[in-house]
Amino acid sequence: MSQTKRWNAELYDDKMNFVSHYGRGLVDWLQPVSSERILDLGCGTGDLTTQLAETGAKVAGIDFSADMIRTARQKYPHLPFHVADAHTYRTEESYDAIFSNAALHWMKKPEEVIRTVWLALAPGGRFVAEFGGKGNCDQVVNALRIALQQKGISADERIPWYFPSIAEYAILLEKQGFRVVLASHFDRPTTMPDGDYGLRHWLDSFCSPFFTDLSPDEMEEVCLHVTELLRPTLFQEGKWIVDYKRIRIIAKKESPNTCGKE
Ligand code: BEZ
Repeated sequence: MSQTKRWNAELYDDKMNFVSHYGRGLVDWLQPVSSERILDLGCGTGDLTTQLAETGAKVAGIDFSADMIRTARQKYPHLPFHVADAHTYRTEESYDAIFSNAALHWMKKPEEVIRTVWLALAPGGRFVAEFGGKGNCDQVVNALRIALQQKGISADERIPWYFPSIAEYAILLEKQGFRVVLASHFDRPTTMPDGDYGLRHWLDSFCSPFFTDLSPDEMEEVCLHVTELLRPTLFQEGKWIVDYKRIRIIAKKESPNTCGKE
């Protein structure tokens, strides 16, 4: 998990723990093998890093947020976690796999992140990731556009996320030298916890870049407006269901004698 705002790790673990819950499916794509070296890129508070470690893999986690890493270290003191920006992170370690769940969409210079991944992988290594794809949370973003426009603010100038199509992202991977082995762009309507409060938790956790410069009262007004705009479509049977669209990819760094490039 990486972004420019300060994360609230407590809120994240309490109300947004569905993020790592869904990430378990991505571990099945990774198929970790005992004693493999695996880097969890954007590890948040470390729940999936721990799950990877339980397979016998030698894991490390990095995250841009010092608050997330502090919490990860408290929860899992036996594992190595580091504060790092995946755009520029470099390591002496050579990993068999790099795993990333729900983090890459916070990193707005994907070429730089892909370069980091490439350099950190051993020849033959794999990159397995899930993140928001084109159209992710479109209804929420549109509602933010409308509500912020009423305050004279352009939401588009504040969007903190990168949601590419498969084509766009695969081109970046291939330019770096990866072979894209598998890619999927799928709808995953995502139910928020806490009934009527669910959308508000989501806005509080993920949308602070939109609210920069707003007073607490103005932010409250915008959140209420967004909530009312979305209620007819996203609030169903007492639950908020956000219109997630995910990309999952597996890309391979071929050994130099096949088709990799440095
Ligand atoms: C996501 O995981 O898809 C996501 C998280 C925060 C904001 C937008 C999307």
